Amino acid sequence: MIRSKFEEENMPKPEKTKEIFNRKEEHLKIPIEYDVQHSINYFDDIKLIHHAIPEIDLEGIDLTVNFFNKQISAPICISAITGGHPASKEVNKILAKAAEEENIIMSVGSQRIGLEDPSTVDSFKIVREFAPTIPVIGNLGLGQVSSTYFKQEDLTACIDMIDADVMAIHLNALHELVQYKGNISYKNFRRNFKKIRESTKIPLIAKEVGTGINQDLALMLDELGFDGFDVGGTGGTSFAAIESKRNNFDNDKYSRNPADVFREWGIPTPVSIINVRNVSQKLTIATGGLKTGVDIAKSIVLGADVGGFAYKFLKSSWQDRKNDTISNTVREIRTLKNELRSSLWLMNSSNLSELKNKREKCVILGNLYFWLNQ
Ligand SMILES: Cc1cc2nc3c(=O)[nH]c(=O)nc-3n(C[C@H](O)[C@H](O)[C@H](O)COP(=O)(O)O)c2cc1C
Repeated sequence: MIRSKFEEENMPKPEKTKEIFNRKEEHLKIPIEYDVQHSINYFDDIKLIHHAIPEIDLEGIDLTVNFFNKQISAPICISAITGGHPASKEVNKILAKAAEEENIIMSVGSQRIGLEDPSTVDSFKIVREFAPTIPVIGNLGLGQVSSTYFKQEDLTACIDMIDADVMAIHLNALHELVQYKGNISYKNFRRNFKKIRESTKIPLIAKEVGTGINQDLALMLDELGFDGFDVGGTGGTSFAAIESKRNNFDNDKYSRNPADVFREWGIPTPVSIINVRNVSQKLTIATGGLKTGVDIAKSIVLGADVGGFAYKFLKSSWQDRKNDTISNTVREIRTLKNELRSSLWLMNSSNLSELKNKREKCVILGNLYFWLNQ
């Protein structure tokens, strides 16, 4: 049988797939076992303005949001974490069950391995099995979409794998750069994206993974036809820090590990939200270092629509996995909702649109002030 170059490249290759398979496991374990969080969290520089006499019912506060035509109970997204490994399947099942129970958004990790090795597809499919109604976001990387051999069928296969409501294209240039044999060739991205934009019916969002989005890029992505953003800014999980814990540095060639040097590189999440909002009115998820429901409120005041959390839900699901339960993850979601509701009450706001993009409802201090006023 004669195979095309594309088919050759996309055939499951035992070594390549094994490499991704091991990486998946390390990516899950390293953030749990080591501190791979950015050292500065810029949400600490935002103070919401207190209102001393709330004149609304705490329980009457409406946290519901419309996310690409699906109504969710609160603006909370379980960010892309995993898929492609037996442990990922368990984590995804826990997250999907909890997200469905609480009616929030759930994302899967990169589906590249699902395209390359059909035996891993069930670790993604399980999400739709246990989360039949909520919005589910699929995930594919900049590297794959930019490949000369990329074709629409790949994206369609990812969508079908989980019956995705939305697809995220993750932008992870720093991660690829500091990773052993990372994919750092993106010259075909715009051309390929234009084609998939034309033939894809569901919304497509541009998602950074912890290094943020600058204003010029936000404008370019908006004009290119993305339907929304996940700003994935600096302040939370650092992929360079994760890579620095993996044993993949060529110390014959270089005297310092770039993964250590670029550990703190990136644009803070609050700055990235403002960068996007200055040039686009499209739906925006704020991810990167959000810790509480108060951080969701801060993100919304800056102009975001939804708050996303990866590290927090990785931790809760890992705990749940040990105890064969979903209770830690459900409790975490309820805690975030309660903190967000309390923030609104203390600001005398009865719904999220009263806060959205109202920068007069906060004060910006410290390093964040300097970022925004240089
Ligand atoms: C273990 C782990 C795996 C991740 N895998 C992906 C991925 O496959 N695709 C993606 O777009 N983002 C991925 N991310 C990035 C997150 O979705 C998120 O953007 C980033 O971690 C910042 O959020 P946080 O500070 O809440 O962790 C991953 C994050 C973690 C912690």
